[in-house]
Amino acid sequence: MPGVVIVGAQWGDEGKGKITDLLAERATTIVRYQGGNNAGHTIVRDGETFAFHLIPSGILHSDKTCVIGNGVVVDPRVLLSEIDGLKRAGVSVANLRISANAHLIMPYHVLLDQAGETKLGKNSIGTTRRGIGPAYADKALRLGIRVQDLLDEKILRTKIRAALEPKQQALRELSVQRRKLRKEAGEETKGATPDPLDGVVDPRPDLHAMVEEHISYGHRLEPHIADTAKLCWDALDGGETVIFEGAQATLLDLDHGTYPFVTSSNPIAGAATVGAGIGPTDISEVWGIAKAYSTRVGAGPFPTELHEEIGEQIIEQGHEYGTTTGRKRRAGWMDLVGLRYAVRLNRMDALAITKLDVLSGIGPLRVAVRYRSKEGAVLEEFPYHQSILHSASAEYEELPGFDVDLGDCRAPEDLPTEARDYLGFIADYVGVPIKLVGVGPARDQVVWLD
Ligand code: IMP
Repeated sequence: MPGVVIVGAQWGDEGKGKITDLLAERATTIVRYQGGNNAGHTIVRDGETFAFHLIPSGILHSDKTCVIGNGVVVDPRVLLSEIDGLKRAGVSVANLRISANAHLIMPYHVLLDQAGETKLGKNSIGTTRRGIGPAYADKALRLGIRVQDLLDEKILRTKIRAALEPKQQALRELSVQRRKLRKEAGEETKGATPDPLDGVVDPRPDLHAMVEEHISYGHRLEPHIADTAKLCWDALDGGETVIFEGAQATLLDLDHGTYPFVTSSNPIAGAATVGAGIGPTDISEVWGIAKAYSTRVGAGPFPTELHEEIGEQIIEQGHEYGTTTGRKRRAGWMDLVGLRYAVRLNRMDALAITKLDVLSGIGPLRVAVRYRSKEGAVLEEFPYHQSILHSASAEYEELPGFDVDLGDCRAPEDLPTEARDYLGFIADYVGVPIKLVGVGPARDQVVWLD
């Protein structure tokens, strides 16, 4: 089964990194196909914790090729700091390849993301403020700077100048906004409040300095820059297994998620073709990853959200704080309406359910099996209309909980009957087998069901 896609089935943070790391044992190549450093994968290996934002989780296997595909948006500063961090930890990055066609997140994209969110105020999307949306917007506008441009100073200068030109007005406004915020903060607290825009470059970028800086990034990244689509074809045509690792998740998909509260790329499995440069028939298996409950960070509809104590309990037991932004996640019950939608959209072959151990001591358990609109209509399918989804409430099936530590379970029979029944209910409802279950953060804390 050479082409395997791993995709998030909910709103992200499902623990895809750990599953990719496990499935990577059978692969030669691991490819990320979308997103940027808005993602965060945490892998615990031999007691050491690694957090990645851009580099595919497979990097810990020194014999595998790790690819950042053309569909990813790359902030070169973040990438280089991840490379440096891995080197410091003694992990080789010799097998890291970056698509020459991937687009760059430039300093002005970060600024525009921050300014856009600030301007939206209470209607903000809750982006990671990493410049993802503006970078993809420039790509679509054909004003993007690509990884290969880092290798040619003349082209780089011309392209940055062209990209900056239409942003001057917004950047000028941002400069004014920034001064105003500084002043307000200073007046209110005599300078004690941190500037909300601190840590970002000057809103009026210096073209010359930016070009110089990026040329130096190019020098450092050059050994890794490659034609990564060809690299995937060679592996696939040679019968090797290639894993295509999605970031974010199905319900954050730009086309199929809860727009506009979504990310600016397509995490769904089909997007692996465009984001890596392969054909649809190169994909032979799709794995969906879902947590045993649901979480979401940022704004947007969340029909099974828990506002009471149980939500807090899940957040604390599951350490539900963002790897990228440190934000506290919103938590809720498992949503089978959303999961079934994700199963079909991605045409999943298998599911991995992560963090089942977190539900220990929380019972009875509830799973959403339908929604009800505010007018009282029963909704069996994930509603396509935003107003219906925003006001829908979830209706639940109640299942018995379990109150034992699952951390040492390694075989299906080690799991309590209630936990197995919970998994069985999910698999039956969505019509896809659950093949792998996570019972703790460490690499070996999993139960293979099939
Ligand atoms: P952006 O991708 O930074 O533009 O953010 C858009 C939305 O996607 C926001 O609600 C973010 O919180 C959410 N988001 C982006 N990346 C992730 C992720 O890796 N996990 C969970 N949510 C994410």
